[in-house]
Amino acid sequence: MNYDEAFRKSIDDPDSFWGEAAEQIHWFKKWNKVLDDSNPPFYRWFVGGEMNTCYNALDRHVENGGGDRVALIYDSPVTGGTIRKYTYREFRDRVALFAGVLKARGVQKGDTVIIYMPMIPEAMIAMLACARIGAIHSVVFGGFAPRELAIRMDDAKPKVIVSASCGIEPKRTIPYKPLLDQAIEMADSKPESVIMFRRPEVEAGLTEGRDHDWEELMAEAEPAECAVLKSTDPLYILYTSGTTGIPKGVVRDNGGHAVALNWTMKHIYDIGPGDIWWTASDVGWVVGHSYIVYAPLIAGATTLMYEGKPVGTPDPGAFWRVVSQHGVKALFTAPTAFRAIKKEDPKGVYLKKYDLSGFRTLFLAGERTDSDTYHWASRLLKVPVIDHWWQTETAWSIAGNFMGLEFFEPKPGSATKPIPGYDVCVLDSDGKELHEGEEGILTVKLPLPPGTLMTLWNDDTRYRESYMDPFPKYYFTGDGGYIDEDGYVFVMGRVDDVINVAGHRLSTGAMEEIIAQHPDVAECAVVGANDDLKGQVPIGFVVLKAGVARDKNEIISELVQSVRNQVGAIACFRQAAIVKHLPKTRSGKTLRGTIRKIADGREYRVPSTIEDPAVLEEIKEAVGTIGYGKK
Ligand code: COA
Ligand code: AMP
Repeated sequence: MNYDEAFRKSIDDPDSFWGEAAEQIHWFKKWNKVLDDSNPPFYRWFVGGEMNTCYNALDRHVENGGGDRVALIYDSPVTGGTIRKYTYREFRDRVALFAGVLKARGVQKGDTVIIYMPMIPEAMIAMLACARIGAIHSVVFGGFAPRELAIRMDDAKPKVIVSASCGIEPKRTIPYKPLLDQAIEMADSKPESVIMFRRPEVEAGLTEGRDHDWEELMAEAEPAECAVLKSTDPLYILYTSGTTGIPKGVVRDNGGHAVALNWTMKHIYDIGPGDIWWTASDVGWVVGHSYIVYAPLIAGATTLMYEGKPVGTPDPGAFWRVVSQHGVKALFTAPTAFRAIKKEDPKGVYLKKYDLSGFRTLFLAGERTDSDTYHWASRLLKVPVIDHWWQTETAWSIAGNFMGLEFFEPKPGSATKPIPGYDVCVLDSDGKELHEGEEGILTVKLPLPPGTLMTLWNDDTRYRESYMDPFPKYYFTGDGGYIDEDGYVFVMGRVDDVINVAGHRLSTGAMEEIIAQHPDVAECAVVGANDDLKGQVPIGFVVLKAGVARDKNEIISELVQSVRNQVGAIACFRQAAIVKHLPKTRSGKTLRGTIRKIADGREYRVPSTIEDPAVLEEIKEAVGTIGYGKK
């Protein structure tokens, strides 16, 4: 089958397209219906089917003779070069034992478990153990501050939290226990128990009656079998930034997710049993969920987990060392990681030290790959560089290229073609479909394919309002862009207040809420400004309350510190300017789009609805003082 045939079939006859794909997954009981579209926009896949994601990721490979193949390679330069390998059999046994630990702590099918951990194998073990017994995990990225963790706890209401004593950044070690204690203190919904994996780098005391030591519980546990789950039972909740301070809890199913991810490994990534696959991301993000943990294991490949950075651990040759040492066939990471390497090693001197003859493809996502980085990586690596577009909501890519189906000559700046299952349409603001080459809002005609979000946790209304109501019968992606005359999709950026900082999705609205809490602040606007390394960084414009006469720099550093304390260092909120007014429409809406254009030094039109055009001059000046506004 070529791409056109696969794409047409997925849209015209999804039952047969996805029904065939589902044959590659193990089912305890086959489904009655591939797609249940009786209650739009709540679509359900493989209804009546019973399966277990962990069984598909681990047990079935062991039972089919693959028990001695390596499931996971853990490579950790930040702990002095630790390398550990687990076969499928060893990994299944560890997961089964930890599943027994969770059961012994009272975790049952349908209970929620929060996992707040760094990039260590135990994070994966905890995720798969939840999947094994039908508990719903919610992984919270280890770089988030206590407030963000507390917000997620109050929404997910975990019975148990699994954590570790520390995360390790190149410049510092971050003890997690104080962060966890603060979050539990702040949250209304407290866990019954905390299971703490104690790393040698940082000791963590245990709170009597609440905290338990991972190893001690493992020593006394009985392994747990895989629960028989409905295809439509939730596998996990993953919180992602929306336009407000309250994150959205994306809910994923079991059956559709396993089927879709397995399909992608063969057709998009060309990875199967025996291949070494590396996703350099973090298990706290969707890329980590799908392509560090679930997809490579479901496909029977070897997944590599890397606890380090592209540069500084120890040098910009880190990625090439890992690729050559472990025989990595394909790498998936964010463009920002490549920009960091390019900045420190523009000529690829470090690259030349390593044998990359087994390396076949570089996949990039998380933000648009700029043409400079695309050309640099293609020239040095001499393999296809594939930009593909996706979101937490979808779990896998909406547009991309196909190493295992049909390869299209990439066009720099484009994510290539819509993936089978995604009928991508460009609409204008009235919902009219636009023609090729015309830029508008990127949407996907419903239904979305399997594996995409079922709803938002405990919030069907927000699911409808955020994604389905803006354009009935279409899924609203939040991204803008166009499709060219060859059917290539160009994603030009978000049309809402979500920003992408070094591949991390963040909400400017959440930062505004924190800044607005400062006693001297009357109002503020935070926008994403283009940044050469990180893609975007947030910058703030702050109006002080009348009569505040304190030193402006002091106020700004307090604001920077509170965003750092309350969201986390990853927000990279470092710059703000005090202004007298924010530009607003006559109805009082802040003109963030215009501020963003000024910050990027782009052309802008003075909006006809603006209350006072003179305010834009002040913004221009403020932008200049903090070093932005240049092209
Ligand atoms: N836990 C705690 N803190 C973390 C963290 C984590 N897991 N990850 C990052 N941070 C902190 C960093 O220590 C840094 O703190 P600092 O302000 O005290 O220095 C801050 O957050 C910003 O970190 P980072 O974004 O990593 O910036 P950097 O300048 O140190 O490194 C890159 C730049 C490009 C190398 C880095 O951002 C990177 O590797 N990005 C790839 C991201 C990625 O894989 N995204 C997944 C999407 S596919
Ligand atoms: P996240 O949910 O964190 O994966 O972020 C999703 C958002 O990242 C998308 O809505 C896009 O704005 C952006 N994004 C991801 N991949 C790409 C890409 N290849 N090209 C352009 N934007 C991308």
